Amino acid sequence: MCGIVGYIGSKEAYEILIKGLHRLEYRGYDSAGIALINGNRELSVYKAKGKVSALEDSVAEKDTTGTIGIAHTRWATHGEPNVVNAHPHYSQSKTLALVHNGIIENYKTLREVLVKHGYKFDSETDTEVLVELIEYMKESHGCDLVRAVHLALKNVVGAYAIAILDKNNPNRIIAARKGSPLIVGIGGTKEGETPEFFLGSDATPIIEYTDQVVYLKDEEIVVLNRDGSYEITNLNNVQQTPQLQTLQVSLDQLEKGGYPHFMLKEIHEQPKALRTCIGSRINKRQKDVILSGIIDHKDKFLKARRIIICACGTSWHAALIGKYFIEEAAHIPVEVEYASEFRYRNPVIFPDDVMIAVSQSGETADTLAAIKLAKEKGAFIYGVCNVIGSSIAREAESGTYIHVGPEIGVASTKAFTGQVTTLSLIGLAIAKEKKTLSDEIYTMLVDELNNIPEKMQWTLDNNKGIDNFAQMFTYCKNFIYLGRGYNYPVALEGALKLKEISYIHAEGYPAAEMKHGPIALVDEEMPVVVIAPKRGMYDKVVSNIQEIKSRKGKIISVVTEGDETVRVLSDYCFVIPDTRDCFVPLLAVLPLQLLSYYVAVAKGRNVDQPRNLAKSVTVE
Ligand code: M6R
Repeated sequence: MCGIVGYIGSKEAYEILIKGLHRLEYRGYDSAGIALINGNRELSVYKAKGKVSALEDSVAEKDTTGTIGIAHTRWATHGEPNVVNAHPHYSQSKTLALVHNGIIENYKTLREVLVKHGYKFDSETDTEVLVELIEYMKESHGCDLVRAVHLALKNVVGAYAIAILDKNNPNRIIAARKGSPLIVGIGGTKEGETPEFFLGSDATPIIEYTDQVVYLKDEEIVVLNRDGSYEITNLNNVQQTPQLQTLQVSLDQLEKGGYPHFMLKEIHEQPKALRTCIGSRINKRQKDVILSGIIDHKDKFLKARRIIICACGTSWHAALIGKYFIEEAAHIPVEVEYASEFRYRNPVIFPDDVMIAVSQSGETADTLAAIKLAKEKGAFIYGVCNVIGSSIAREAESGTYIHVGPEIGVASTKAFTGQVTTLSLIGLAIAKEKKTLSDEIYTMLVDELNNIPEKMQWTLDNNKGIDNFAQMFTYCKNFIYLGRGYNYPVALEGALKLKEISYIHAEGYPAAEMKHGPIALVDEEMPVVVIAPKRGMYDKVVSNIQEIKSRKGKIISVVTEGDETVRVLSDYCFVIPDTRDCFVPLLAVLPLQLLSYYVAVAKGRNVDQPRNLAKSVTVE
């Protein structure tokens, strides 16, 4: 995915746009670019390969004046990351500049048509095709630019959020979206202030200036005028009524707050974030879960033949834990699907199926497509998202936000624990409606879930020194992570965290699967991380540890406080306080997040922006 920023008002646009790009850099960091119109009506486009800081360096001697501009940070899809393929893209006459997030699927066909009409292309991107198409529509229909945008977008197949500057009209920005997010910030609304507008792929470039926003809907086009007026139309040029909303994000949530990386900040934020996630959903006095999203649609859950949880990456790992819990607590069969696989099968969906979509960003293209497919086939869609107002949250018929605050590090940490907690709340809320748990067990589980934030804090306080210990593993080429039951998905998540930020190969397995093949990999060079709480299948996990030990593997374990048996067998131990089996993942994952963080730091990796990745994958 890419990030888009825009500004029109009375201030110098450059500073606002660059700051906005830094905030959106988590969305892509292959190249960055900016377009500005200065006081002489000159439209300049500056671009650089690499991070936003490279763009800043490259414009140091350039004219960056102007009170209107658009900017972009790219995660390459069409065309390698270089300056030519970076956005903004000029139109052929160089009167228009356009930035784009998404994919124009029919760009090849459109390009062929435009080539026949004499258009030439500098880049390999689908975006350049779009800006040329808009110019072609304007010329061939002799219409104004807004109409040309309508006409061009009607011919486009795919996803887009775009913003356009027109050299001939330095008093307006035109923007549009379909499938990729775009938010308009409305500033300068108080008496005596000059009107101004901001554009952002999310709220982070906007919140410093205004909390008044409009989330553009699919196939909406907005014209933002310097005089403070704005108009939203759909592709058929029918005027739409904007819904003004107040942002709930605060600026300090977007800063590192003294931590060297967002990831470390977000790991340490988890006790507080989960307290907010649980918030008023648990009535502490009555030890009861109240989830309006479930209560309002309880008939759907009471008659559900099964639940399908759809997700990708870390969210898929959280979904697996959700499956175990919902099946145990609410006695409904649960299937967990990779959204990217589900959407391209012809899955059997019954009208009494419930699909829960789990997504931090709420923008993951595969998850969005999967819920649209399930909805078409009659399933009831429930969203579990973090980003308020995101596409998946809006597409869902009901849902529960995880409310852990903005997650900026590309490696998901607090969103994972927020998702597991929310799925546990959902399981408890359904169990209450279905009466599948005794009052005693229900109350005990609610009470224990409520204690988890405190136990997370204990875990963080009692696992110091991982930074020193992690140094030893910088030269490892492989890691194995093992867990059983609820901790098997934790093993998968621990391995994913290590892979994505340190680039060390790691695999997660159900511990008992080892003997069916992977144990052949174990030798004195292989670190094996085992989640071994004194619960559930403890004795069996101890046997699995013995099997590895006797093949000279290095054991790093996560154990319950006071457990000496596994401690003695281990080369290194992380400790967690005791809790119910179903909530162990919420504690056990913390030292694994810290381990991957410190190994990556010791290897000198860019922890918050690992290579080839973007925070959410809004393209296929
Ligand atoms: O925004 P989503 O939760 O839908 O994103 C899904 C995955 O792309 C995401 O969890 C990814 O695996 C994380 N970077 C892992 O840390």
